[in-house]
Amino acid sequence: MIGVFDSGLGGLTVLRALTGRFPEQSFVYLGDHAHVPYGDRPSEEIIDLTRIAVEHLFRRGCKLVLLGCNTATAVAARRLQTTWLPSTSWKAAGHNVVGIVAPTVEAATQTPWAVTTPQYPQKFLTDRIAVFGTTRTIASNVYGEEIRKRCPKVTVVQQVCAELAGAIETGATEAELERLVVAGIDGALAQAGGEPPHRAILGCTHFPLVEHLFRRHLPAATRILSQPEIVADSLEDYLSRHLDYRGEAGAAPRLALLTTGDPEETSARARVFAGDDLSFTHLDA
Ligand code: DGL
Repeated sequence: MIGVFDSGLGGLTVLRALTGRFPEQSFVYLGDHAHVPYGDRPSEEIIDLTRIAVEHLFRRGCKLVLLGCNTATAVAARRLQTTWLPSTSWKAAGHNVVGIVAPTVEAATQTPWAVTTPQYPQKFLTDRIAVFGTTRTIASNVYGEEIRKRCPKVTVVQQVCAELAGAIETGATEAELERLVVAGIDGALAQAGGEPPHRAILGCTHFPLVEHLFRRHLPAATRILSQPEIVADSLEDYLSRHLDYRGEAGAAPRLALLTTGDPEETSARARVFAGDDLSFTHLDA
């Protein structure tokens, strides 16, 4: 069973790509609606909240947890993987936690994560890449650093969209969401001196829920990288190398949707975006 974690509804964009790609795999989704949004919280708090969520998912029987959240990945993934997990008995029992920044950087740079020095031809790439994310993701500079390690001549424009994830969670009107998207795009274009980016990373899993607004207002020549699809590709590769995390052959796939918040409200909001009959239950139920 694989756990997918996000601060709220955003990770559903990733979950949808995963259930489509792995129809025989069981998933447990956990949205921390009691604390969403994470984007402006202090880093230590994000690390604590993410660790608590990962432990919940481990206890629910998930051996692998995917942080379907850029903020949690940017701020907490490395700490959890290198410091917390090895200090627990979960590690010895074969549990693991992975994030979504690495596959996104791999796709944006066309360079495997393990390759950390510029290789030909990426070494000479002079494209502009725009990254839209929460305050904490952009402040971590993880995208800027990791992209430029592999493509030193690429211009990375990082734009904070501080209120967008929160507005999506609280069901803001389309006009309000559009205003926030336009403000983010204007900010990115201003940083790039008006030059359109070649590619845009929607570096917050909430943002694909308003991808149509990004598409409407980004320059036509800018290609949007689809993070949910990128993450599904990467997980497919990961599972082919870590067979332990694959579901049992022949077992019926299960999907559980958990929230730390109000399940009725969360289910209603999720349906607005996902259109499916998604029923959340409370984490402790
Ligand atoms: N969906 C999240 C991300 O990918 C977090 C948004 C938030 O809680 O601020 O960054």
